[in-house]
Amino acid sequence: MIRSVVRGFGAALPKRVVTNSEMEKIVDTSDEWIFQRTGIRQRHIAGADETTASLGEQAARAALANAGLTIDDIDMIVVATSTPDNTFPATAVNIQNRLGMHHGFAFDVQAVCTGFVYAVTTADAYIRGGLAKRALVIGAETFSRLLDWTDRTTCVLFGDGAGALILEATTGEGTNSDRGVLTASLRSDGAHKDKLFVDGGPSSTGTVGVLRMEGREVFKYAVGMITDVIHSAFDATGTTSEDLDWLVPHQANRRIIDGSAKKLGIPPEKVVITVDQHGNTSAASIPLAIAAAAGDGRIKKGDLVMLEAMGGGFTWGAVLLRW
Ligand code: UT7
Repeated sequence: MIRSVVRGFGAALPKRVVTNSEMEKIVDTSDEWIFQRTGIRQRHIAGADETTASLGEQAARAALANAGLTIDDIDMIVVATSTPDNTFPATAVNIQNRLGMHHGFAFDVQAVCTGFVYAVTTADAYIRGGLAKRALVIGAETFSRLLDWTDRTTCVLFGDGAGALILEATTGEGTNSDRGVLTASLRSDGAHKDKLFVDGGPSSTGTVGVLRMEGREVFKYAVGMITDVIHSAFDATGTTSEDLDWLVPHQANRRIIDGSAKKLGIPPEKVVITVDQHGNTSAASIPLAIAAAAGDGRIKKGDLVMLEAMGGGFTWGAVLLRW
């Protein structure tokens, strides 16, 4: 049985760090409010020379170096983003070109904050279906470019960045002891599309638009949706919270992460937290968190790792993998 095994990881963050106290100069807010309500201390904001594609390229190069591979070894690129450099072509082909890759294929997936979970699941399906041997899976965002910087209820929450994983086709036994992606659970329900959206687009307004969110409404659904897909992933593999070594959640709000982990009976020391440093980087948050925890040696070969996210759409999902 073919499994998609993680071969390498990488991350990239814009140079400029914006602290909560700096946000106090932009909107009527406070470090205390932001930290207590969200767990965020700071975020990185892209400069004029930094874009989703440039950050994605940088994360991809780091992942290739980490894996000891070159771009010639990759045959598929999937980029999860809601903030593409251009409406088209896909940011994935932009990154493909920046990396000097002229073979294989590249495309974007758009599932907002759940984008990286969808992208890993997509790459895994292509790999198991025999369409690719090694996939570069990237989550890259510049949400700062989509924010209404006069709206304190949203602009304090988001940040920019990119992360990447390389998945490689590897023969497994078909058991939970295999390394690689073991299962995934994806969901969406467009009935919630107006609770978190961007109020522009090529086919509607002809503009890019800015992010609009009913934060309290999103919050209300988050823990239930996250724990549902995690339970589905556990059920599909006959595993439980006790078997898990690491929960790598989408980093939107510390209270959502803590609430979900508590409901699942996962102790805080098994949960990777980066929201304090990065804010909500949408599709980039999970690969950034993976790079932090694998980079400092917390996530080790053979560990059972659950990725989860929930966001605009609503979309939500979980991936269970053995590192
Ligand atoms: O990644 C995609 C998914 N997105 C999310 O997961 C976001 C989910 N939602 C949230 O994380 C939270 O709902 C927020 C962090 C957005 C807001 O926290 P909350 O505890 O739900 O606060 P709230 O919206 O109920 O607002 C409480 C108060 C309000 O004032 P009043 O009406 O009680 O007087 C807001 O006007 O806090 C006020 N407020 C602020 N005050 C200072 C809202 N934003 C700010 C701010 N600074 N930046």
